[in-house]
Amino acid sequence: MKIAVVGGGYVGLVTGTCLAGIGHTVTIIEIDPEKVRAINTGKTPIFEPGLEDLLKKNASVRLHAEPGYGAVAGADIVFICVGTPPAADGSADLSFIRSAGMSIGNALKGTEPYCAVVTKSTVPPGTTENVVQPLVLKASGKTLQSIGFVMNPEFLREGRAVEDFMHPDRIVIGSSDRKAGDIVAAAYQPLAAPVIRTGIAAAEMIKYTSNAFLATKISFSNEIGNICKRLGIDVYEVMKGVGLDPRIGPLFLNAGAGFGGSCFPKDVAALTALAKERGEEPLLLAAALAINERQPHRMVALLEEKIGPVSGKRIAVLGLAFKDNTDDIRDSRAIPVIRELLEKGAGIVAFDPMASENMRRIFPEIEYFPSAAGALTGADGCLVMTEWPEFSSLDREFDLMAHKVIIEGRRILSCKEKEGICW
Ligand code: UDX
Repeated sequence: MKIAVVGGGYVGLVTGTCLAGIGHTVTIIEIDPEKVRAINTGKTPIFEPGLEDLLKKNASVRLHAEPGYGAVAGADIVFICVGTPPAADGSADLSFIRSAGMSIGNALKGTEPYCAVVTKSTVPPGTTENVVQPLVLKASGKTLQSIGFVMNPEFLREGRAVEDFMHPDRIVIGSSDRKAGDIVAAAYQPLAAPVIRTGIAAAEMIKYTSNAFLATKISFSNEIGNICKRLGIDVYEVMKGVGLDPRIGPLFLNAGAGFGGSCFPKDVAALTALAKERGEEPLLLAAALAINERQPHRMVALLEEKIGPVSGKRIAVLGLAFKDNTDDIRDSRAIPVIRELLEKGAGIVAFDPMASENMRRIFPEIEYFPSAAGALTGADGCLVMTEWPEFSSLDREFDLMAHKVIIEGRRILSCKEKEGICW
């Protein structure tokens, strides 16, 4: 099939590259000339395991990037993969969705073949039908006879996005028009994954609900972890016993410093804002977010319990990325921890295998080291904020600290003297 992907960001680049990988002819429409050049020369502007290999194989063969919307005319499918960042009140800002809808409509003006326009960006239920569809139809001057609308959410985890695309546990296709949904299902046919067909708004809601449930599962584990800590019980032993119940499942029960990243905090806030706008007060979602906000402060409180006021002390922060295997620091739990420590007058020294340069943009005043040993030397306390696997082999490095007080926000260390935030 001929496919156009609007947006060469994280989701668009992974989606476009993988669609080319399974045999489609793909054009990624991206306004940033740097990204266009990188994609066309087979280089990934983001770090994602397996992506560069796939891009190299397909760039200039079945995959192209360009700044204009020309490829939309003649495409069987157009995927909208633009950002939906949070507005000040937590609701999803749809301005990129609107401008993509208008540009797609303009590009489809006067064209002949049937085209399926697919929202892949995470959007509030109702957006595809009430925002995308009218904009595309108006700008193109066409009717639902020649353009179909579909919502097809992504479930890509950073660091595992190519694997998640190629081996999805389900493909959700929401459409009101059977024909448009069939075209999208046919595009995914090489993946041989279970396909769930729904209405458009239901598909939009599936994405929000999945992320809200996973975020709640983590906050639930953190609440149980906080209680377990008071009782002197290891929450990881508890969750091992709990997770074997197939109704619960063993994944996403890891208690710790809370969830970060580009999806969970933003999507739960957007769903909350949407619910409130419709007169519904979402108690559980509010609690999931509140617990998540509180966990980082508990890290600092536990540290102060051990070493007293942090003012004037040297505190090592190990791990800045929101999770392992990425340089992404969006909503990383390290950010509120560092902010609070700085406000309290501590000196911060930090180490992360990949994310230091990104964190430097937010906190230029702290000292970044190229190794854990460097950051730990002379430190009065250490907070571990990311589940980097290599942290599990740290041992003698902690002997370099002035005072060996180590607090784990992620269950990852194997050294002896340490204390967990909820264990
Ligand atoms: C998530 C969803 O998993 C994915 O399906 C969606 O499309 C985008 O959002 P991602 O943000 O890449 O993916 O990260 P994920 O691996 O889900 O982890 C999110 C956060 O939760 C991380 O900060 C991680 O440290 C934390 N986490 C995860 C826990 O604290 N405990 C857990 O048990 C699992």
